[in-house]
Amino acid sequence: MPFVTFHKHGQVFREEVKPNTNLVVRAGIKQFPYPNLSFQCGMGKCATCACRVLAGGEHLPPPNWKEKKQLGERLEQGFRLVCQLWLEHDIELVQEPQAAAA
Ligand code: FES
Repeated sequence: MPFVTFHKHGQVFREEVKPNTNLVVRAGIKQFPYPNLSFQCGMGKCATCACRVLAGGEHLPPPNWKEKKQLGERLEQGFRLVCQLWLEHDIELVQEPQAAAA
């Protein structure tokens, strides 16, 4: 089962999630990483859920067109739209205040 490590505001939150988990879907039903994960649309349109991948990015699929459109050059800095990711492997993410300000 994927083990998620989530950094926010200098704090670290960790939890194991089911395979094929979407963190925005979970936060939407008030499960980890709620209430710490910022998100809005859940559809790749707002970039509020953008996080920088610290570890485990090699297991993720390539960014989809929504991520490319929303993140642009931030993709090269390791950012992904968490609402567009279904996790199958361990991952470590940080959501920084500036990550939400697209
Ligand atoms: S929540 Fe809007 S892009 Fe992910």
